[in-house]
Amino acid sequence: MDFKEYIRVIPDFPQPGISFKDITTLLKDGEMYRKAIDEMKQMVSDLKIDVIAGPEARGFVVGAPLAYALGVGFAPIRKSGKLPGETIELGYDLEYGKDKLAMHSDAIEKGQNVLIADDLLATGGTIATSVSLVEQLGGNVVGAAFLIELEELKGRNKLIDINVYSLMKY
Ligand code: PRP
Repeated sequence: MDFKEYIRVIPDFPQPGISFKDITTLLKDGEMYRKAIDEMKQMVSDLKIDVIAGPEARGFVVGAPLAYALGVGFAPIRKSGKLPGETIELGYDLEYGKDKLAMHSDAIEKGQNVLIADDLLATGGTIATSVSLVEQLGGNVVGAAFLIELEELKGRNKLIDINVYSLMKY
C-alpha cells in the first residue's frame, strides 16, 4: 500500500526551506485513513499497550482512532494552558519554534504501558518531551508510532531505547 500517494507535499510551508507533509489529503479519504490506522495497529501488535498518549493537534488524529482500534484509553498531551485539571508541564523546541506541553497529573497510572502516537517524527522534540511527561507520571513507554518519519532530521536519535514505528519515511 503506497500511503505516500495520499500525502501532499507543500514546499516552503510554514517557512522557506520547510517541505511540509500535509496529511489532510490522506485523512479526507475514509478508506485510506482507516487503512493507515489499521496498518499502525498491525505495526504495534507485539506490544502490550494500556493507554495511548498523543500530542495535540495532529497527534489526536492518529492517536485517538488507534486507541479506539486497540480498545485502550487515550491520554491527550496538550499545549500549555489547555487542560483544566492539575498538570505537569515541560518546555521543548520545535522544528520551527518553541512551546510547552502538558498532561493531567492523573492521565497515566504508575506502571501503565504507554504507546505514544503522532502524525510526524521530525526533530523528535515533541516526542522526546512527550516521553519525559509520561515517564514523570510513572508510565512505561513501550513505543512511539507515527504516520510519517522525516529521516534526515534524525528524530530517532532522541528516542534511545524506545521502539519507533513509522508508516512512511521521507
Ligand atoms: C508537529 C507534528 C508533530 C511535531 C513534529 O506538531 O504534528 O507533533 O510537529 O516535530 P518535531 O519532531 O520536530 O517535534 P505541531 O507542534 O506543529 O502542532 P500541531 O499538531 O498542532 O500542528
